[in-house]
Amino acid sequence: MQNSASLVVVLGTGGTIAGTAASSSDDRGYTAAQLSIAQLLATVPDGVGVPVEAEQVAQVDSKDMSHAIWQALALRVAHHLARTEVAGIVISHGTDTLEETAYFLQRVLAPVKPVVLTGAMRPATSAQADGPRNLRDAMLVARHASSVGLTGVLAVLNGVVHGAQQVRKAHPTRLDAFDSGEAGPLAAVDNGVLRYLAAPAPGPLPPVTAALHCAVADWPRVDIVVSHAGASGAVVRALCADGVVGLVVAATGNGTLHHEIEAALLTAQAQGVAVRCSSRRGDGRVAQPAAKGLLEASDLSPVKARIELMLGLMPPGAP
Ligand code: SIN
Repeated sequence: MQNSASLVVVLGTGGTIAGTAASSSDDRGYTAAQLSIAQLLATVPDGVGVPVEAEQVAQVDSKDMSHAIWQALALRVAHHLARTEVAGIVISHGTDTLEETAYFLQRVLAPVKPVVLTGAMRPATSAQADGPRNLRDAMLVARHASSVGLTGVLAVLNGVVHGAQQVRKAHPTRLDAFDSGEAGPLAAVDNGVLRYLAAPAPGPLPPVTAALHCAVADWPRVDIVVSHAGASGAVVRALCADGVVGLVVAATGNGTLHHEIEAALLTAQAQGVAVRCSSRRGDGRVAQPAAKGLLEASDLSPVKARIELMLGLMPPGAP
């Protein structure tokens, strides 16, 4: 799709990319979410030769990402995407929950224009900060992705472009911390040039726009439980007693569950709690039906399956 719009809007939400430490040699002892998005943009080498607009939507360490910030962010993204002069959006984000925000935005907005999340593994004060290059690459992708057929929510880190459904943080500290599992990345940014690596994904699922309008306090409560050696049904029973309406279980092996957790989940389901079976492994789709009587969460990771189930249970909001 040819795109004559050229403005890139960059939304700041915090993270290590906006973090600062006392010394430029300290890549670990820093505080996330200290610098504004305007300050970060000033560190990007040479800009990207396109007009850029910046807006601070939040300022958090992404381990503390909330549904309220997700809703505010989705509304700002929707607002800017509707502007004809906007080619795409960049979201500067902490890396710890970046994959969840990417999946949430894809499912709520299913955008046609590119929405590109990026972050950094080193703080802005590091002598080897990766944030400026990541921001630059993300802006380039936001400007040019549509013209090469890349649309929707993407993540760009360390020169690699991932899709929202596949992207995951796979390493706690390395610069190449992100991957797309068996699916592989969609594209790469090599010295300022965007190169395709994979065929475009099939069309996106229709967006679940209720999350834009439904009061966050009314979002259905969905939690994650893990099946493991020595598991019991106690956590499932406690969550049900506490009012959870949906549960995702991270299953072992080829979709198997400890018999005690399985029994507790079947009881919860019989009592009206929606249950989905995901996998605690990183790669590979479960090749057999989920534990008897439970529905599979497709090939989504537990954190993304939680978002999918929560959106599926959301009361339809105002249009
Ligand atoms: C965060 O997720 O906000 C902190 C960690 C990071 O961005 O790498």
